[in-house]
Amino acid sequence: MDKLKGGIIGAGKDSFIGFAHYAAAALYNEAEIIAGVFSSDPDRCIKRGLELGIERCRIYCNCTEMIEKENTLPAEERIDFVIIATPNYLHCKMIKAFLENGFHVIADKPIAISLAEALEIKDVQKKTEMVLALTHGYTGYPMVKQARYLIKSGKLGNLINILVSYSQGWLSPLIKNPEEFKTWHLDPAISGPSCTMLDIGIHALNLVQTITGLVPEKVCANLNSTIPGNCLDDNGTVLLKFNNGINGLLHASQVSTGEGNALRIKIYGDIAGLSWDQEFPETLEMMNSDGTSTIFKKGVPVLSEDARKASNFPPGHPEGFLCAFANIYSSFFKAIHCLRNKQQPCPGGESGWNFPGIEEGIAGLAFVEAILKSNQSSEKWIAI
Ligand SMILES: NC(=O)c1ccc[n+]([C@@H]2O[C@H](COP(=O)([O-])OP(=O)(O)OC[C@H]3O[C@@H](n4cnc5c(N)ncnc54)[C@H](O)[C@@H]3O)[C@@H](O)[C@H]2O)c1
Repeated sequence: MDKLKGGIIGAGKDSFIGFAHYAAAALYNEAEIIAGVFSSDPDRCIKRGLELGIERCRIYCNCTEMIEKENTLPAEERIDFVIIATPNYLHCKMIKAFLENGFHVIADKPIAISLAEALEIKDVQKKTEMVLALTHGYTGYPMVKQARYLIKSGKLGNLINILVSYSQGWLSPLIKNPEEFKTWHLDPAISGPSCTMLDIGIHALNLVQTITGLVPEKVCANLNSTIPGNCLDDNGTVLLKFNNGINGLLHASQVSTGEGNALRIKIYGDIAGLSWDQEFPETLEMMNSDGTSTIFKKGVPVLSEDARKASNFPPGHPEGFLCAFANIYSSFFKAIHCLRNKQQPCPGGESGWNFPGIEEGIAGLAFVEAILKSNQSSEKWIAI
């Protein structure tokens, strides 16, 4: 397959996730990044672009310039796709602009900062028929694919209960000293109507939905702001009612002092349970009803086809976050090639699922808007 050409918006020198995108896009040699807007500040943008080895004429000062100039290039030179890795409030505008002008898009979560914006993106994607992926990166791990397979093939029996938590501690220094550092995550104009739930609560929800296929129907939320002067949630707990009467508990916090990226899930069925921890992603525990456990390791032949394909090294050689991200990129690239060759997009493994997209983006925003409403309400349950 031809190597695809991409551009990136974001990925400035100090950006957090920009480097993961830049590296993951090129990891399996399926694409190269040859253009971009690396900062809203023109000098910093050019400096960073040159540092990354981008030709000066493909470093642009803003998205409008990038779209105009790329579209004047011959088709074989023009970029095929764009990565959006900027702060949240810019996502919707940028995603729509690139889709409408003929570029496939892979955007970071949240897809937008309101459900209304997410629905607008859906309309544009439908009209333009371009490929749109959303980097809920954790879904790219082999053990997440194995967990999905085990549930789909009935190994857990009927599901009863789900516990998921995403605990980070990076905001907790602000509780004692709100001036210790500044972050756009606490600014509603940039972050959106929520900090923690929109940032990582939606990762936890997406993990549940990816693994189980369940749809949450009702929520009962208790959110709080522990940082003095912070108007957005930095900590919260949500009770969930899924379709089929299954219940769940989701906790997300960025003031869990000492935690890194503790995304953990436990799923219990009437035959067995599953337990997975993002900080130890290479193994998946199936808890059997007799009290013994079966441990699945990535890269071994007994895994499902999806999980085997997502394993890039043999068991024992950790691959981690970057390879999980790159697995999403790889599926996104396959969908672009399939579309070009007039095959159905998303060829998929046995799950028929390849990468998160607009529906997952909409689910995240619908969830956040329902829990914000629930948090303000005296009613016990709020419908999503
Ligand atoms: N999928 C994940 O696991 C994951 C992890 C972290 C962050 N994120 C998401 O990625 C996005 C970026 O987060 P971050 O932590 O890297 O933020 P960041 O502030 O560290 O980096 C943002 C980058 O965007 C650039 N930028 C800002 N405005 C711009 C503009 N108008 N044009 C071009 N570049 C511009 C900044 O210069 C910076 O380089 C957020 O939406 C966040 O929610 C996702």
